[in-house]
This record gives sequence, C-alpha cells and structure tokens, in this order.
Amino acid sequence: MIKAVIFDLDGVICFTDQYHYKAWKELADSIGVYFDEEINNRLRGVSRMASLEIILERSPKKYTEQEKEELAAKKNERYVEFLDEMGPKDLSGEVQDTLHVLREKGLKLAIGSSSKNTKKILEKIGLKEFFDAVSDGTNITRSKPDPEVFIKAAEMLGVKPEEALVVEDAKAGIDAACKGGFVSAGLGEAAEHPAVDHPLSSFAGLVDVLSV
Ligand code: BG6
Ligand code: MG
Repeated sequence: MIKAVIFDLDGVICFTDQYHYKAWKELADSIGVYFDEEINNRLRGVSRMASLEIILERSPKKYTEQEKEELAAKKNERYVEFLDEMGPKDLSGEVQDTLHVLREKGLKLAIGSSSKNTKKILEKIGLKEFFDAVSDGTNITRSKPDPEVFIKAAEMLGVKPEEALVVEDAKAGIDAACKGGFVSAGLGEAAEHPAVDHPLSSFAGLVDVLSV
C-alpha cells in the first residue's frame, strides 16, 4: 500500500528544468560546444558536475578540475539569476491543487531532488513549509540514477521504499526509483521509460494513480 509520495523538483513540481537548460545553453555557447534539448534530457536528474561532464563530451579542449569547478559555478550563477525572478506565481494551479488532494488523502509528501538549490526554489514558490521531508543535493553523496536521495527521503518519512511512489521527469530518476525498490510514476520523457510503473500525461493524473 502506498503511504507516501516523493516528488522530484525540477520539471515535476515546477518548470525550473527550463532554466537549467537556458543556463547550460549559455555556458555551452560561451565555450563553443554544441548543446541542444536532446542532450539536455540526459542532464535531467544528474548532479551539476555530472551534467557538465556530459556537455564537455563534445569539447575538443580538456579542462582541468579547477576550470570545471569554475564553469559549473558560472552556470549556477546564471541559473540562480533565473531563480531570483521566481515567485508563488510559478507554482501552477494544477500542481498546487493536486498536492492538496494528495495531502487530504493522508499521504506523506516529500521532495527527492539532486539540486542544491531545492530549498531556495521551494521558498520562492511558497512551498518551503509544505513537505513532510526534503531530501536534496545537500544531503547526498551520489546523485540519480543512484537511489540515495529517495532512500533518504523515505527514511525521513519513516516509510519503506515499496510504500512510496516516486514522481519523476527524468529517465535517471526512474532508474533510481527502480534500483531503490520504489514504485514509480513518470512525466514527459520518464513516462516512456520501459520500467516505469505509472506513465502520466499530466501531474493531476497522480490522483487517479493514488485512488486505487
Ligand atoms: C536536478 C536537475 O534536479 O538537479 C539537474 O534535473 C541538475 O538537471 C541537478 O543538474 C542539480 O541541480 P543544481 O541546482 O544543484 O545545480
Ligand atoms: Mg527533474
């Protein structure tokens, strides 16, 4: 029986996945490396440094660790500029209403995100105090497709993995959910993952998944 829902943040709760894309695109253009939305899909769910490594696969130049740190910091600075413009208006009515319906059903609700900017984003969209647990890039050592972030969230909630539904837009996130023994629901690209338990065409579709 499902007792909890663990949500990815970027691309699930809000559209910050688009800001990640824009910030990486500007960085890639600035160093003359080809980057598009298809390559961007490989960055979904993976950490900042792992994302940079994927982008640099197409770079003829080899970067030192120090230079990579600087590039990742530059991308994050630009990303945070986008975040600074966000507010409660950036939480859609659909997401807000669905979260409240799930809460009324008595489900425990958590965030499981690789992002170190999670708390800032939750504060911006007015959800800082809403979730029962927040597991993010600041409390893990391995990012998705490793299940650590979801396992930590389940521990914080006091539920077993098989009692929690993970909601993801990233294929790496579905891989992580499977490895950790969680039930999974996928949006966008993640809905096409062969191992996803519940492909979704909308966030509100979660209500039906959790009504059975
Ligand atoms: C994930 C995103 O939620 O967080 C990834 O899907 C991103 O694209 C990762 O790289 C890390 O985010 P941040 O905010 O710590 O750079
Ligand atoms: Mg995501």
